[in-house]
Amino acid sequence: MCGIIGYIGARQATPILIGGLRKLEYRGYDSAGVSVFDPSGGPMSRVVRCRGKLSALEEKLQKEPAPGTVGMGHTRWATHGRPSDENSHPHKAGPISVIHNGIIENHLALRAELAAAGAKFSSETDTEIFAHLVEHALLAGAPDLTVAVRRSLAKVRGSFAFVVMSDKEPGTLVAAKNSSPLVVGLGDGENYVASDVTAILSETRRVIFIDEGEMVTVTRSGVQITDFDGKPHVREAKTITWSAVQAEKGGFKHYMLKEIHEQPRAVADTLVGRVNLESDDVVLDGVDLDVAKIKRIIFIACGTSYHASMVGEFMVESLARIPVEVDLASEFRYRDPILGPGDLVVAVSQSGETLDTMEAIREAKKKGAQVLAISNVVESSIPRLSDHAFYTHAGPEIGVASTKAFTTQLVGIALLAIYLGRRTQKLSKERARQLLAELVQLPVKMRDVVESGAQLQALARRYGHAHGFLFLGRGSQYPIALEGALKLKEISYIHAEGYAAGEMKHGPIALIDEHLPVIVLAPRGPHYEKVVSNLAEVRARQGKVLAVATKGDNEIGGHADDVILVPDTALELQPILTVLPLQMLSYYVADFKGTDIDQPRNLAKSVTVE
Ligand code: AGP
Repeated sequence: MCGIIGYIGARQATPILIGGLRKLEYRGYDSAGVSVFDPSGGPMSRVVRCRGKLSALEEKLQKEPAPGTVGMGHTRWATHGRPSDENSHPHKAGPISVIHNGIIENHLALRAELAAAGAKFSSETDTEIFAHLVEHALLAGAPDLTVAVRRSLAKVRGSFAFVVMSDKEPGTLVAAKNSSPLVVGLGDGENYVASDVTAILSETRRVIFIDEGEMVTVTRSGVQITDFDGKPHVREAKTITWSAVQAEKGGFKHYMLKEIHEQPRAVADTLVGRVNLESDDVVLDGVDLDVAKIKRIIFIACGTSYHASMVGEFMVESLARIPVEVDLASEFRYRDPILGPGDLVVAVSQSGETLDTMEAIREAKKKGAQVLAISNVVESSIPRLSDHAFYTHAGPEIGVASTKAFTTQLVGIALLAIYLGRRTQKLSKERARQLLAELVQLPVKMRDVVESGAQLQALARRYGHAHGFLFLGRGSQYPIALEGALKLKEISYIHAEGYAAGEMKHGPIALIDEHLPVIVLAPRGPHYEKVVSNLAEVRARQGKVLAVATKGDNEIGGHADDVILVPDTALELQPILTVLPLQMLSYYVADFKGTDIDQPRNLAKSVTVE
């Protein structure tokens, strides 16, 4: 998630831009830049940008000052194109400067079209393409920047918040929104745009949240909002009462809760440009595998990423019929594994910096295996160490307890499984089409679940005093039981265990009594009857059962004390929905206990030590 800020008024823009970007640093970024127009400095705005932190940009601005009273600033979280000076925003084409948050899905086609028309590109980014589109629209006769942006938007598909300025029209900023957040700040003789209220809260509390499919023309005297066809929209300004700290969390109490709610968007962003509904296939950028040569796949990971890998085993074996093993990275690296060129090792890591996973990759490469990394941080150590890299687009995950990174890992692995299955010919075109259709519907279904927080909050109050929890699941729900237990213990400090439901009778059933809440994953599917009999075993011993089941299940209520329903989806994708109530339950239990949810004791966001 990139950080965006624009200013137009009577004061020097650069200090306001840098100050606003500093307020967005918490979101994580790998480069930064500004574009400022200085009427006294001649006809051109000055773009100053670089890889690295804001301090590097400020150092550069000492040598290359950017005076002027209109400008925009950006902090970049790389998605297309590695972190570098050239890939930093703003991007310029002729008189046009652009900053962008999101992903232009049809960027390759547009780049080819523009190159054929003579455009010269200086970066690997999708964003630069929009600067060229707007420049071309002006050259083709657009009467002003607003119309040039409007005509350019008609050619773009994907998620975006753009801010555009032109040296030919220095009294105007034009911004547009589709999926990525955008807000306008209103001042007295000065106005702002930003990706996040946090960036401008110290300047103004009067804001207008821009809606999907709206664009806004911002001048010193005011703002005009329209849809992408130019139809005016009248929008009321709101006064923000949040504190700056609350604003960083988007009004949520903790980053973890914000990130739980960001999951539908994160999954949608991870799917952008990768689902080809015409060919019923998947486009895996950054992956070029000779699938015929893959005899075995070994997932290696730690913690939550290990649980995602365990779900991945079911997805890949079911859809591609390639044998899969899953290893804890910290075990794999020491067990002298037997590997060869027919093995594909898949390293899953949100941070891309986990030392155990990195050392496991080194072990795998030493023994001749190919390595594919699935990570959330572009150009982090693990993707750089690997032969192939596939990125989830969850945006920076601030909460130590991983949530949106986990569900986007599952989506990424599902895409990999479909990609492999279509190439091993074990997955039919029809079945692939069904799965892809279910994948693109996931964000809506996920939103349905994450909006049901009130029920989970009530359950957390009812069971939050328990001294222990047991989570049970079968098949691909067993890793979800493990993940639910990990979430609960790492943020509430209450002991919790995840177990294969079929293992109950081999020991854990001794734990069952009226004080032990048992959370059971019981979605529609091949294990349903067996899981229901496990519920009966628990209740026969006075255990309290919370069942996670599929919407429309009218039977489960007779076997459980509480039921949490999630929408139905393809069997292989069910874990992406059933994990959501467990994330929320763990959050509300921890909130009930008052622990430090975003920074739990003893934990680090990225474990870069042995
Ligand atoms: C997840 O909630 C934990 N914070 C932890 O288990 C984490 O998943 C693990 O350390 C692996 O991190 P990675 O995905 O960045 O490699």
